[in-house]
Amino acid sequence: MEQTLVMIKPDGVKRHLIGTIMQRFEQKGLTLVGAKLVLMSNEKAMIHYIDHREKPFYQDLVSFITSGPVFMMVWQGEDVVKIARLMIGEVDPLRMIPGTIRGDFTSHLSLNVIHGSDSLHNAEREIALHFDASELIE
Ligand code: TYD
Ligand code: MG
Repeated sequence: MEQTLVMIKPDGVKRHLIGTIMQRFEQKGLTLVGAKLVLMSNEKAMIHYIDHREKPFYQDLVSFITSGPVFMMVWQGEDVVKIARLMIGEVDPLRMIPGTIRGDFTSHLSLNVIHGSDSLHNAEREIALHFDASELIE
């Protein structure tokens, strides 16, 4: 069964949104297979966002994601990578549709509360980066 990495970013943790956001994924019928509160290392942050290494916002992104605790989750379900991305919503504040997590909880480009893997390949890569196999219960 497909799995994806969902991460509540430092702004979402500071705003006490962990429970509210987890509830949405549970209500959707997805299955939680792992979760933990983490202070991400600079090294892991650089690898996590490796696809953006050439972008002008890369350093700020790495600084932001390591600025406070993040809440890491692995969710499982059929087509869960795409379903989680639909639930999260778009990165562009003008396309954060109400009803999505970003649409309901933010209107900011970088303080956007939540991350979700954007492909099956990246989901596998990100889960392996942030979780040991022993931390996942299937
Ligand atoms: P991206 O992968 O485009 O968005 P998503 O989080 O929806 O997968 O970008 C990764 C993160 O980088 C995004 O959550 C916020 C940040 N970001 C910026 O700070 N500035 C930008 O112009 C973009 C496109 C993203
Ligand atoms: Mg992305």
